[in-house]
Amino acid sequence: MPDQTLSGRVAIVTGAARGIGLAAVKRLCAGGASVLAFDRPDTDFTDALAAGNVASFGGDVVNASDWTAAIGQALTLGPQIDILFNNAGISGAIANAINYPEEEFDRIIAVNVKGVFLGLKHVGEHMLANRSGVIVNTSSVSSFGGSGNIFGYTASKHAVNGMTKSAAIALAPHGVRVLAICPSPTATEMMFQLERRLSPNDPEAARPQLVQGIPMARYGTPEEVAEVLAFLISDAAAFMTGALIPVDGGTLAK
Ligand SMILES: NC(=O)c1ccc[n+]([C@@H]2O[C@H](COP(=O)([O-])OP(=O)(O)OC[C@H]3O[C@@H](n4cnc5c(N)ncnc54)[C@H](O)[C@@H]3O)[C@@H](O)[C@H]2O)c1
Repeated sequence: MPDQTLSGRVAIVTGAARGIGLAAVKRLCAGGASVLAFDRPDTDFTDALAAGNVASFGGDVVNASDWTAAIGQALTLGPQIDILFNNAGISGAIANAINYPEEEFDRIIAVNVKGVFLGLKHVGEHMLANRSGVIVNTSSVSSFGGSGNIFGYTASKHAVNGMTKSAAIALAPHGVRVLAICPSPTATEMMFQLERRLSPNDPEAARPQLVQGIPMARYGTPEEVAEVLAFLISDAAAFMTGALIPVDGGTLAK
């Protein structure tokens, strides 16, 4: 049974309607936090709203005006925003540097890089004024090396690491911590979609290939990622900032 150490804290979670974001909403609520669940306007927020003291916000992380509106709505939940889980992301095309469609590259950089930047900028500014707060960006194990066939995704997650470290250095003297969580393949719709793209007639047949490089030989669960998030935002991690934390079944040990 999680403790109530997040009681009174206000969090914004992006990509909150499903997958890792939804698991984070549930974990934050279990710890006593109030949460603004930020996801696309056409999203079904039913599961997030059922998690606890949650308000929903339909918007696009790529739009600065949506961030301003989301911050305004989060501040109806409490006097300040304590936590940002900057998590929304897309997987983009399965293609290499040569055959990557230009418009898909623009879109993945917009969502996975500019979206994270705008969260850092706008929520970071609010936290800086309060001299407290924690931002956790969702990166990936793909941020640590090259990958031939998910060129745009790999580029975007390398950028998330750079933004995480740079923002951490800038905000450290002001009482604001910035970290990244780097999952290996995790059992969410993002992976299930990839399985369907790789093996349309039998999606699960793609799984052995996708877990091949993972010593634990399985997908992580969204809940396992959310538990690490819970630690990183807690006061137990008060001296941690700028770190890129793998949650990867041993993938990066190889
Ligand atoms: N699932 C994995 O294997 C895996 C591994 C490593 C990293 N990640 C990262 O974890 C994060 C969450 O992924 P997931 O697996 O839960 O995926 P998911 O596709 O299940 O959920 C992503 C959520 O983000 C939302 N979203 C996408 N674009 C948005 C936008 N422009 N504005 C607002 N919301 C938007 C979607 O509507 C969706 O609800 C992503 O950043 C992803 O890159 C996932």
